[in-house]
Amino acid sequence: MTGFNEDFLWGAATAAYQIEGAAKEDGRTPSIWDTFSHTPGRTHAGDTGDVACDHYHRYADDVALMASLGLNAYRFSVSWPRIQPGGRGPANPAGLDFYRRLVDELLRYDISPWLTLYHWDLPQELEDVGGWSNRDTAARFADYAQLVHDALGDRVRHWTTLNEPWCSAFLGYASGEQAPGRREPDASVRSAHHLLLGHGLAVQAIKASRPSTQAGITLNLYAVSPATDAPADIDAARRIDGLSNRWFLDPVLHGRYPADVTADLREISDFSHIHDGDLEIINTPLDMLGVNYYSRHVVAGADADDPPADHWRKTSAFPGSAEVRFISRGFPVTAMGWELDAPGLVEVLRRVHADFTGLPLYITENGAAFDDQLIEGTVNDPQRIDFFDQHLRACQQAIGEGVPVRGYFAWSLLDNYEWSYGYSKRFGLVYVDYETQQRIAKASAHWYANLIRMNRPAAHRLGEGSRKNSTG
Ligand code: FCB
Repeated sequence: MTGFNEDFLWGAATAAYQIEGAAKEDGRTPSIWDTFSHTPGRTHAGDTGDVACDHYHRYADDVALMASLGLNAYRFSVSWPRIQPGGRGPANPAGLDFYRRLVDELLRYDISPWLTLYHWDLPQELEDVGGWSNRDTAARFADYAQLVHDALGDRVRHWTTLNEPWCSAFLGYASGEQAPGRREPDASVRSAHHLLLGHGLAVQAIKASRPSTQAGITLNLYAVSPATDAPADIDAARRIDGLSNRWFLDPVLHGRYPADVTADLREISDFSHIHDGDLEIINTPLDMLGVNYYSRHVVAGADADDPPADHWRKTSAFPGSAEVRFISRGFPVTAMGWELDAPGLVEVLRRVHADFTGLPLYITENGAAFDDQLIEGTVNDPQRIDFFDQHLRACQQAIGEGVPVRGYFAWSLLDNYEWSYGYSKRFGLVYVDYETQQRIAKASAHWYANLIRMNRPAAHRLGEGSRKNSTG
């Protein structure tokens, strides 16, 4: 597969709590994920991110690994409780230093740092006073964004405020499947709003101090289809599309909440948390939009009085959707049980561009977990290669139709801590042996490196990717 522009970004993504470890080092205090993962019964096998991939100590080797694969961009997140222990007050110099060292290492290899401010690790002290369901958390987030930007704005150009606010709000506060593990639909609706408010305030703060900073947000978007043409199925698709996609795209890009979803949620929320002027802040102009894509939801109407066995688990993250059923079509699935659906990515990209924004789009996550086996020092993962191949072809198709897709970040660089699934799900291009912390590039990593080489012949000739100076 060739034909991507020379300046297309070829990246991989990670998140702080999933890889860093060093949970108690250099002044870091607990986040909601430390609390959640240390609560019995919340995560697979009680797994925590205490050590994870030990990236906090191994970052230099990990950056060298990225360079060896030919990546020209790396998306990582900053751990809020490393920067502001307790979630407020002045910056912790040791926390900032870690990210400075990481960024400088990336820049030495000509790998563009793409920084995400919030990938789910809210300082526990802020959760203790309500977390995202408390409006004040939005202001705290903007303060934190300002501190990180003051320290790194001179060397990091691309800033993402939030990763997947749908997950933070609805998995965190409605289904309770993720930290902080609350099951309060009303709080989840408030949290979604305060997350977006925090996003808008943070964009305003960082753009005011450095207008050349490129600011965006990353949303997890889904293709959504009704199981049949029956009106109940079509309405189920409207609801699920509304909550997963439009509840975030509309306020961020059009400055309004979708009226149909607002009506759906009336039984749950009185919306008194939305203050005058909030939507203008949420709608602050951006420079780019990050799209995370994994799969499609196929949905049908259901009899709420006679639900299928796993009904609550599947619908609880969609407040007010008890009458929806999630259908599996029998397509091939990943180890997460997510159906492979690359055409869904084309649909999502086409729609975002046509209905929501002309901004440059970046796939900030796309990838698959499979049950990888390390056999005689190698990991052969043809299913993952096929997954990446199909989804990159989907990007090409969208680009061919005029959608400005400018880069792709594979999820993930490394096998890592997959939240409530612990270490049981491997998403990496690179296999991690958690006993020894050894990194082993999987066949998919070699495939990706080769694809990058074929699409960036000039960079390859110029020797980009070699370290520029060793003294720092
Ligand atoms: C996304 C998250 C990421 C990882 C992948 C599999 O929802 O942003 O951290 O868990 O799913």
